[in-house]
Amino acid sequence: MADLWQSAMDHAVAAAREAGAVVREALQDEMKVMMKSSSVDLVTQTDQKVEKLIIQSVKEKFPTHQFIGEESVAAGAACVLTDCPTWIIDPIDGTTNFVHGYPFVAVSIGFAVNKQVEFGVVYSCIEDKMFTARRGKGAFCNGRPLQVSDQKEISQSIISTEFGSSRDPEAVDKIFSSMRKILCIPVHGMRGAGTAAVNMCLVASGCVEAYYEIGIHVWDIAAGSLIVSEAGGVLMDVGGGELDLMSRRVVAANSRSIAERIVREIDGFAPQRDDAPPPRA
Ligand code: IPD
Repeated sequence: MADLWQSAMDHAVAAAREAGAVVREALQDEMKVMMKSSSVDLVTQTDQKVEKLIIQSVKEKFPTHQFIGEESVAAGAACVLTDCPTWIIDPIDGTTNFVHGYPFVAVSIGFAVNKQVEFGVVYSCIEDKMFTARRGKGAFCNGRPLQVSDQKEISQSIISTEFGSSRDPEAVDKIFSSMRKILCIPVHGMRGAGTAAVNMCLVASGCVEAYYEIGIHVWDIAAGSLIVSEAGGVLMDVGGGELDLMSRRVVAANSRSIAERIVREIDGFAPQRDDAPPPRA
């Protein structure tokens, strides 16, 4: 099996590079922007085109594999992670950035077997940075090994997070109160790249000590979670338990102690899970 997953990973890297070229080219053209769950949850024809391209090319090579793709799920496909080999795809992580030309946009491809991520590929396509990780074999950026920061003091750290796409006032209040508490620890600074996948790769690269968010989806974090852990980092739920990819909550940090400190400051809430059954008509 090991060699089969390597060839799947090689395929994912090639597909992500190809997808990134399509995304870069589309940035030059006029875009048709559409809304999904709300007026701040955006999608473009490029998201849909890139996801189709990736899925088509994978299906040709691995016809029995399954898929969870952001835009397929938006179009009604099930979001269920089984034990079967499953490609978890975000064709454009940072769609809002893409729409505005804000220069952090990534193609994210995670691959899970028995519900465990075996490899992750995040291509930050404007920076031309290819982040990769294979279970047990380390994490890399453009072929160079990645290592999380060795900073032990949260007060000397940069923490990243995002506002996400919920504008529910209660959720927004919790997001702000968590940020306020973390900022006032105090920490050196807070950041957000506008893409969960890139935020996680920044933790893996050692320039940000931790990233947390409530409201992300499995396709935003599947690849990045392995890149963080293979770079020596730690993942957990915002409640302090084990990371559950479907729960829409994540803390990714350079160390358990910084992750646990963030958990203590977060006002948690639980959005509807990615694998929740669709509401009955
Ligand atoms: C979004 C980005 C953003 C995060 C949102 C995600 P998308 O993904 O990762 O940084 O705050 O929670 O949904 O919609 O651009 O693929």
